[in-house]
Amino acid sequence: MSSIIEIKELTKRFGKRIAVNNVDFNIQRGEIFGLVGPNGAGKTTAMRMLVTLLKPDKGEILVGGYSAQKNPNDVRRLLGFMPDSFGVYGDMTVNEYLDFFGACYKVHPHQRAQLISELLDLVDLGHRRDDMVDTLSTGLKQRLGLARVLIHDPNILVLDEPASGLDPRARVEIRELLLEIARLGKTILFSSHILADVGELCSRVGIIEDGKVVAIGTLQQLSERVMPHRQLHIGLLERKEEAQAALASMQGVNEVRLLEDGKRVFLEVDFVGGDEDIHSLLASLLQQGFPVIHFSEETKNLEEVFMRTTKGIVS
Ligand SMILES: Nc1ncnc2c1ncn2[C@@H]1O[C@H](COP(=O)(O)OP(=O)(O)OP(=O)(O)O)[C@@H](O)[C@H]1O
Ligand SMILES: [Mg+2]
Repeated sequence: MSSIIEIKELTKRFGKRIAVNNVDFNIQRGEIFGLVGPNGAGKTTAMRMLVTLLKPDKGEILVGGYSAQKNPNDVRRLLGFMPDSFGVYGDMTVNEYLDFFGACYKVHPHQRAQLISELLDLVDLGHRRDDMVDTLSTGLKQRLGLARVLIHDPNILVLDEPASGLDPRARVEIRELLLEIARLGKTILFSSHILADVGELCSRVGIIEDGKVVAIGTLQQLSERVMPHRQLHIGLLERKEEAQAALASMQGVNEVRLLEDGKRVFLEVDFVGGDEDIHSLLASLLQQGFPVIHFSEETKNLEEVFMRTTKGIVS
């Protein structure tokens, strides 16, 4: 896979404060990449430099091979940017709003009506096309924002907190919409505080804190760095203590805890080994007649990854 975005030593200061500090990362073509970090980490500043709205103090940004500093117009053609706030265009209809941006991007008037219909279909807003933008809910405005960034058919979408302020249903809908847009072949970079969204969507995640990228990788890689062992949850109908003792002596098992989460009692196993070893462990339990009713691996503990990474445990 080739990198469509290459960021090297990117740095931006505001007065004495370093908002983005020597940041390096690449994004592959077709990837959904999540930039996660606490408030003030530098996500918006990094994105604004990438989309040529802000000049870096140092470093290089290449988008599709074009330099954001030297060829900003080529970069803008390839990118669609959705900022974290919606802007002040509430006083027009949904249709007029998209038509306005289509004109800004010089989409030919003959093609614009057709394109707008297609985009409204994509984001499921066709039924609101004649409503004033102001009257849309936050979730619908976000969808309209996505339609807007697609109007010049960019290869890459840069979305600053696309799911912020949305209720759970609207978040799931935005998530599904982003997956659909990715299936159209677009590369997506988005920032979020909502770790669940990142976990569900992204091929890779970069964790940024205090202007620096403190960890980068697939969710699996990040989890492994924070928790080098794997964790299994095993539920049993009965003989739980006996199973705990049996598991403790099995190969690859570091520790077994008997836990209760309110509804049920289960065993939590810290385990080092591959998938084959996990299979052997389960086979051995069943062979010994233990009545297993639940067996799963806990991997996507993204909150844990985030909390521990941003406390500087992983560097
Ligand atoms: N125009 C500006 N002038 C001065 N300081 C700024 C400016 N823009 C950002 N900063 C500072 O740079 C740092 C990074 O801000 P940025 O907005 O990039 O963070 P963020 O990760 O997007 O945060 P949030 O999650 O709150 O959106 C912060 O300390 C912020 O106060
Ligand atoms: Mg921000």
